[in-house]
Amino acid sequence: MISFPEERFRRELCTGCGTCAALCPSGAAAMDAGSPVFNGGTCIGCGHCGVFCPENAFGLEAAAEKADMASPEGFRALATTRRSVRKYRDKIPSDEQMNELLSILGQTPTGRNSQGVTVRVLRGADASEGLMAPLRRLLDILARTGVTFLLGKLTGTGDYLERVRKGEDPVFRGAPVIMFFFVPRGNITGRADGIIAATTVMYRASSMGMGTLWNGVAEKLYPLFRSWHSPSTRGMRLTAVLCAGYASIEPLQKAPEREYRVISEKGTDPGRGSSC
Ligand SMILES: Cc1cc2nc3c(=O)[nH]c(=O)nc-3n(C[C@H](O)[C@H](O)[C@H](O)COP(=O)(O)O)c2cc1C
Repeated sequence: MISFPEERFRRELCTGCGTCAALCPSGAAAMDAGSPVFNGGTCIGCGHCGVFCPENAFGLEAAAEKADMASPEGFRALATTRRSVRKYRDKIPSDEQMNELLSILGQTPTGRNSQGVTVRVLRGADASEGLMAPLRRLLDILARTGVTFLLGKLTGTGDYLERVRKGEDPVFRGAPVIMFFFVPRGNITGRADGIIAATTVMYRASSMGMGTLWNGVAEKLYPLFRSWHSPSTRGMRLTAVLCAGYASIEPLQKAPEREYRVISEKGTDPGRGSSC
């Protein structure tokens, strides 16, 4: 974590170029008579002032060489071969593998601000079973009172709910790792910040030979099941749930591309875009 820039700033190295003030996203760095001044009250700790300083006056580590980064082709290959995982091997990721997976959270610059992100990790052969138990208890009650029957008739989900009640797990699918991504409430970057963190972990997992599944169902169910909650994340906002583990089946074919639309607009002519 970058501490408040003034604490790191070595004025004797500064040439007064103004890069820090020009790039500061929150107005915490400003130029005053050719010298930067910092306002801790608005600093979000993003580190841009130091990262772009031509004199490294904030004393940061040198950036990686561009040549070491994922090539455009490499990243495309990662994106096209990554598939969500719904069948897992019994192998449970080790502490080291989990550390390697999650340490990328310290380098997700878009989310790097003072709000932070908290990931609650459930790991083990029975991680998903513990979460499914209260859901099954609820379905037991609903079945006894005839609600499942009615619901099934109305929505066509009767068979599905009955299978869940009897032990199937279409929610977590027996994943050996379940990650809940939380951010503090009331921050403007809140929800997106947690999603960026989870997305980065998703690609990191792929690059390590692991797989993930975005779990929108668990995210929706989360507010309903108090037993899923932990005092350690009380008051925080859940933004994403990711299941993870090693896939027991690998994709053999590429999925067809998703359809997407790009609306290109000329800068001076808004609203007259061409779409393709
Ligand atoms: C926000 C979000 C929530 C999702 N929730 C679920 C889910 O609860 N269960 C599930 O099986 N798939 C879920 N998916 C996965 C999608 O179904 C998945 O993106 C789709 O299968 C495309 O396949 P891919 O992940 O292999 O690219 C979710 C995806 C997103 C983006």
